[in-house]
Amino acid sequence: MQHRAMALKRKGQVVGVVPTMGFLHEGHLSLMRIARQRCDVLVISIFVNPAQFGANEDLEAYPRDFERDERLCRQAGVDLVFYPDPASMYAADASVWVDEESLSGVLCGASRPGHFRGVCTVVAKLFNIVQPDLAVFGEKDAQQLRIIERMVRDLNFPVTIVRGPIVRETDGLAMSSRNRYLSVSQRKDALCLQNALAQARVLVQEGERDVSVISEVMRSGIEAVPDAQIDYIEFVDDDTLAPMERIEGRVVAALAVRIGATRLIDNALLEV
Ligand code: PAF
Repeated sequence: MQHRAMALKRKGQVVGVVPTMGFLHEGHLSLMRIARQRCDVLVISIFVNPAQFGANEDLEAYPRDFERDERLCRQAGVDLVFYPDPASMYAADASVWVDEESLSGVLCGASRPGHFRGVCTVVAKLFNIVQPDLAVFGEKDAQQLRIIERMVRDLNFPVTIVRGPIVRETDGLAMSSRNRYLSVSQRKDALCLQNALAQARVLVQEGERDVSVISEVMRSGIEAVPDAQIDYIEFVDDDTLAPMERIEGRVVAALAVRIGATRLIDNALLEV
């Protein structure tokens, strides 16, 4: 892949990449469309990255279907699919990691220690291998996106990060490969995430600025769903991810909720 990428760059081709863990859905396809418009050569990486899963997380169970993914990539006009195996990505004695130290301790980083170290490391490796001019990441993973933007800034990667909007199912559930784990009734329960964010938006539109009031309304809505267990509801500055007590400027309302055993995340930008 690296040799191919270097040859493409020598020919002056603009290379775009959409890093994924596969089991592609419409959210990924929308990122591919964004990238397709901006590059000559579109690369999709498909790699379920062991380094970003905790010991008790769903690495083994994470859904995989390479044949289907490959078909979807073909239909989407992808030029190259980079599909490495874990042994070729990580030497058995790999000992160098990329650790972001400011934005990674909150939100998902607080409940998934080491997760963003795994993400930053694999994304840095993908950038070195694929040598993209641009890379598209989805806004559903709001914290991941900001951490990658910070990594690119702080380590001078010559890569433009493009943000892709959240894509939702027709009933509003944010698309995620993990939605696959939900039973029919859990699928309905999962709507509590976007309902809570919608309540937050309405409250802010009505003039509420106190984060404790807004999060209490969100919390009680989610707690009314028997199968839902809140991991976090947080309001953070859009840029620094510092916790906010009031809605001022650009604030990201972010939440993680377990529906049964499935941990789902969603977020909304609140701007006043
Ligand atoms: O968002 C994801 O699917 C993953 O975290 C990423 C960016 C592909 C790194 O493994």
